[in-house]
Amino acid sequence: MRKVLIFCMFVNYLLDVCFRDFGLMERGLKRKLPQNNFSMDELNEDLLERILSWLPTSAFFRLNSVSKRWKSAANSASFKLACSRIPSRDPWFLMVAPNLKQSVVFNSAENSWKRLNYPCHLREDSDQGCMPVAASGGLVCYRKSSGNFIVCNPVTGSCSELPPLHFASENHQSLNAVVMSSTTSNGQQSYKIVLVLGEIPNLFLKFYNSSSGCWEDESALKKNVDDSSMDCDSTDANVVYFLSTTGTVVASNMQRSPSKQYSSVITNKDGWETVYFLSSSGTVVACNLADKSFFEYPRLLPVFSEYSIDIAVCNGELVVVLLSEFLESASLRVWKYDEANRRWQQIVVMPAATSHEWYGRKVDINCVGAGDRIFICLNSPETCTYIVCDLVTNTWVELPKCCINGEVMEFMSAFSFEPRIEAAV
Ligand SMILES: *[C@@H]1O[C@H](CO)[C@@H](O)[C@H](O)[C@H]1NC(C)=O
Ligand SMILES: *[C@@H]1O[C@H](CO)[C@@H](O)[C@H](O)[C@H]1NC(C)=O
Repeated sequence: MRKVLIFCMFVNYLLDVCFRDFGLMERGLKRKLPQNNFSMDELNEDLLERILSWLPTSAFFRLNSVSKRWKSAANSASFKLACSRIPSRDPWFLMVAPNLKQSVVFNSAENSWKRLNYPCHLREDSDQGCMPVAASGGLVCYRKSSGNFIVCNPVTGSCSELPPLHFASENHQSLNAVVMSSTTSNGQQSYKIVLVLGEIPNLFLKFYNSSSGCWEDESALKKNVDDSSMDCDSTDANVVYFLSTTGTVVASNMQRSPSKQYSSVITNKDGWETVYFLSSSGTVVACNLADKSFFEYPRLLPVFSEYSIDIAVCNGELVVVLLSEFLESASLRVWKYDEANRRWQQIVVMPAATSHEWYGRKVDINCVGAGDRIFICLNSPETCTYIVCDLVTNTWVELPKCCINGEVMEFMSAFSFEPRIEAAV
């Protein structure tokens, strides 16, 4: 801990040095600092790299232009290795809008919007452009209009197109979920992409393994029926709002954001991976990758009220974000499924005064989780708002508008990733 603290202090100090000396160093002038006569040249390469690796990724972009020495350190393989040892980075949110041929991110550490170079590889897709569909670690997975997938590091702009998909049977092609998960072991990083295809109850799994560079054969998921899910305790106060056993509600958000057609997440609990997605009728479906089964959660939705629903993962657990309209007001709530009692449990509610703004406006919500927080995009024909909800403190913060070239940008949804220059595709 102490070591980390000293490191952090040193990194702060270096940043200071770096920004004050910007310009001086450029011109090759050495500058002696007033209190202690420390010079960058006294640091050996290894130490310099390890210190640089502690800088936030955005500072690293700026460093690139400071001096030749820093630049070469930043591009070396050993620096990337040092970066890969940093356990986590504050998330950046890659913003999604239809036909957006640029990368705009929200940097949560600096609370600011940032434009990144758009990966060249993605520009080639002629008609609709590539849509981000999943993200994990430092990588984002895009889906081309042809249906093929491209994996990118949005920070470095490096891309790799995955081999085309082939199916044993034609009717497996309707796509419900696309998720990505990445792991690093012994400095070797790998990722997989999991697809859930077909129509309930005939669902299939297909996954891509980056270590082998292949799509594995698809496997069928069997339906796991939970007979007790129907007899929920109807005396619960929440029932009035959300539990219903009749009718079909079509989730209105399914059409709006093309990237969120496959609104899905993956969790890993003690090695048991589960993919969750929203069915076309608005229910949450859980697919267990280990025993190849799926399960449809009891409905959480009101039948006769306008609503929008999305799912996210916070601290490794599934949460459902629901905007509902009831008794002439709108309510935005976050729910979690209580497995022991087999019912949905409310975690936080947005203050009614704020959520009421969206009453009657046909708002669509799209969410992504990052740690304890949920990044929520609220869109309607006339409004566009981004809110970060902290589940622990129950705080709801609206983000500043994103202006590019004097124009307010509107995004439908976002993907959370860690800005890691070392993440290889
Ligand atoms: C820094 O350098 C000056 C001049 O060489 C010297 O007098 C001073 O003692 C040095 N300070 C430290 C902290 O080493
Ligand atoms: C991915 O491929 C590698 C190399 O072929 C293999 O060792 C590994 O077990 C595969 N992973 C999974 C989850 O199948």
